[in-house]
Amino acid sequence: MKIAHSIDEVRKAVREARKEGKRIGFVPTMGFLHDGHISLVSISRENADFHVMSIFVNRLQFNDVYDFNTYPKDLERDLDVAEKGGVDLVFIPDDSEMYKNNLTTVDVEMLTDNLCGAHRPGHFRGVFTVVSKLFNIVQPDVAVFGQKDIQQAVSLEKMVADLNFPIRMIIAPIKRESDGLAMSSRNKHLSPEQRTDALVLNRSLKKCGELLNSGVTESVKIVSEMRKVIEEGSPDSIDYISVVDYDTLKDAEFAGDRSVIAVAAFWGTTRLIDNMIAVREGNSYKCK
Ligand code: PAJ
Repeated sequence: MKIAHSIDEVRKAVREARKEGKRIGFVPTMGFLHDGHISLVSISRENADFHVMSIFVNRLQFNDVYDFNTYPKDLERDLDVAEKGGVDLVFIPDDSEMYKNNLTTVDVEMLTDNLCGAHRPGHFRGVFTVVSKLFNIVQPDVAVFGQKDIQQAVSLEKMVADLNFPIRMIIAPIKRESDGLAMSSRNKHLSPEQRTDALVLNRSLKKCGELLNSGVTESVKIVSEMRKVIEEGSPDSIDYISVVDYDTLKDAEFAGDRSVIAVAAFWGTTRLIDNMIAVREGNSYKCK
């Protein structure tokens, strides 16, 4: 596995891979890798030949300085995990390599008004800006993002279409711990009790699936039942429990085919998110 710190090194390695006729797959991350990140690399391996991963804790997308300063890091372990996962090139820029003057930003209108966008001002602008830059640096054929961050994934799909990036976007399923907790670098901050309590997020989504399949589709009813489940885990606060439409990410009065049901809550200072997409199959809903 090659390690690049500069943009020039990345461009050179990618150029060489292309000369050999390889298709380039790309998985951007902020490190502290877990199996969720590696599942994205596996998908890159099914769809490309040379796999690039970036590890960069992008300060531009942190609306909370504390969150940025405490973001977990373990580069040595990450390099080992990335190599075992089949990454060919890892790009680890420092702040000055990525942001020389920082006057240009990228935004996606409308899709970022709701959900996390409403609670984390400036967050998505930071994500779209860094991902655009990374796309221009790596120039991948395929890029893989996780459904875990559904608003990020849906908005990036739109950004790629709107700005004509010649990149195929793939959204990978949420990888969970065996007890259902969605894998996240931030899970490390949870105490054992908080970690157990946080299982209510996934449980609330399961409840939503049951409700949908028993014919309850009114979002107000679904949200109120989900809230009861989440409150059993005594979160310190709930940012949102929402039923939205996949294409607009706007609140939907009724849940149905291609609805996204998304939740965000805090345990202590740790903010966790989870979601599911309802897909109609015959007379029932498959929730993924
Ligand atoms: P990060 O949180 O490190 O996540 C990197 C990628 O892994 C994202 O596409 C995210 O959705 C995906 N991911 C995280 N947890 C996952 C899980 N449990 N199952 C499947 N995929 C999962 O998201 C970011 O970094 C940043 O915003 C980034 C896109 C790198 C821009 O800075």
